[in-house]
Amino acid sequence: MTTQILNKPLEEISSDALIVFAFQKEKGNKSEYVPTRAFTHINNVLHDQLKKAASFEKFTGEKGSLFSLFTNDDILASKIICIGLGKKEDVTVDDFRQNIGKYVSLSHKKIDSLTISIPENIQDSEVLMHAAIEGVELATYGFAKYKEKKVTDRQFQSLILVTEDKITEKKVNDIIENAQYYSHATQLARDLVNEQPSVATPTFLAELAKDIAQSSDQVSVKIFDKPQLEKMGMHAFLGIARASDTPPKFIFLEYTPKNYKGKEKIALVGKGITFDSGGVNVKPGDHMSDMKMDMAGAALVLGVFSVIAKIKPSIPVMGVIAATPNLISSSAIVPGDVVKAYNGKTIEVLNTDAEGRVTLADSLSYAVEQGATHIIDFATLTGACIVALGEDIAGLFVNDKEFGDSIKKSADITGEKMWELPLEKSYKKMNDSDVADIANIPNTRWAGTISAALFLEEFIGKTKWAHLDIAGPAFASRNSALGPKGGTGYGVRTVLQLLEGEKI
Ligand code: BES
Ligand code: MG
Ligand code: ZN
Repeated sequence: MTTQILNKPLEEISSDALIVFAFQKEKGNKSEYVPTRAFTHINNVLHDQLKKAASFEKFTGEKGSLFSLFTNDDILASKIICIGLGKKEDVTVDDFRQNIGKYVSLSHKKIDSLTISIPENIQDSEVLMHAAIEGVELATYGFAKYKEKKVTDRQFQSLILVTEDKITEKKVNDIIENAQYYSHATQLARDLVNEQPSVATPTFLAELAKDIAQSSDQVSVKIFDKPQLEKMGMHAFLGIARASDTPPKFIFLEYTPKNYKGKEKIALVGKGITFDSGGVNVKPGDHMSDMKMDMAGAALVLGVFSVIAKIKPSIPVMGVIAATPNLISSSAIVPGDVVKAYNGKTIEVLNTDAEGRVTLADSLSYAVEQGATHIIDFATLTGACIVALGEDIAGLFVNDKEFGDSIKKSADITGEKMWELPLEKSYKKMNDSDVADIANIPNTRWAGTISAALFLEEFIGKTKWAHLDIAGPAFASRNSALGPKGGTGYGVRTVLQLLEGEKI
């Protein structure tokens, strides 16, 4: 898809469809709407046709409402799409992104080119342009590798954004490139999640990490294999990996900015279970069918690193992934086994299906040892989190308010939903073990997402830390405005947004 940003009269731009926006009236007559300047302009060019259509359609500018109109020779676009954004003061960047995504996902089969007029005075227009490009890029994503027809039907040829701002060519290029980095990194994470587990193996992820490091001198990678991991003492991770003939890989990526003088160093830790069968505590079939998605945290980290040298964060960033499937064999770890994690703590594995936290114990200890001042881990950790927050919202845990606020602020811009849950100290005893320092499952049915987070907390020492349980939003069971069902690439854009900010 080619993307352009133009400052030129809307009627002079040729495309299959032109989107203009309108708002809902704040008060008073509910049936009226508030036009944007683009709406008014096009209405004038079309001799009041747009207004007539709006009144015929009983258009109120309500959020998500839409009508369309075929045009005549007065304007080069074949069709006008008018989208309501709701009340002007309430419109968020994500409403804007979602509305564009929704239209694109409904119409991509019918049109090849789209023009979007960027509305004035709602948000910074650069932010809106970024969101518009993301909306189109994400909505047109598809995974068709294994289909007879190799291309997805979600394709699109050309996107033109029209602004009234005087904008330099450099700025235009920056906005387009930046939005594409965010989108392509998300699409890579989706591809990795959607790929079949016999292809997206630990070795496959490690090779990808090497390719990423190859392509920039600011990114380096270390891959640790089983013999090295044994020497290092990563016995928690190796315990889970033991059942499988597929070699485990511990992936450590590092991005180093030029001329960094500060002390901060952020680690992104991703759960990398390339397939979760549950182990000998085998999952029932209907719970297992989507479990190729159990490496979505790892996919997020790789997605971020695939563009990190372009985004150029000012602080150093590490990426940590312990990649292995969780399988069943005669050499598998079994309930009652005790493993010693990298930081020396012992874990009694009472349920082999709570494997994520066991592998993360080593990943987090390693990030701490490597001098991370801030850690965020991303893990499809508990089904309980989906019970609590549903499929669209991640569970967030933080041990540092300021760090948590920065993450939430970034997520507000990207529209990736998260909700904070407590690291309740009095619940720590849920993870008590009779024989080891900690057990990998709680001794109660309740608060399974919190007890999992409290387990992880044992491995992060005093480091500032945030844990995102992404079991829900990492994988969609339904198509949505911003992508088809399957891997969503959740979290990639929020992390990039966070890393681009002045402060973490
Ligand atoms: N990968 C699963 C969590 C999961 C479930 C992710 C559903 C996405 C959708 C994790 O390894 C797991 O099996 N967790 C167990 C923990 C339990 C045994 C304490 C769970 O949630 O049932
Ligand atoms: Mg499991
Ligand atoms: Zn799992």
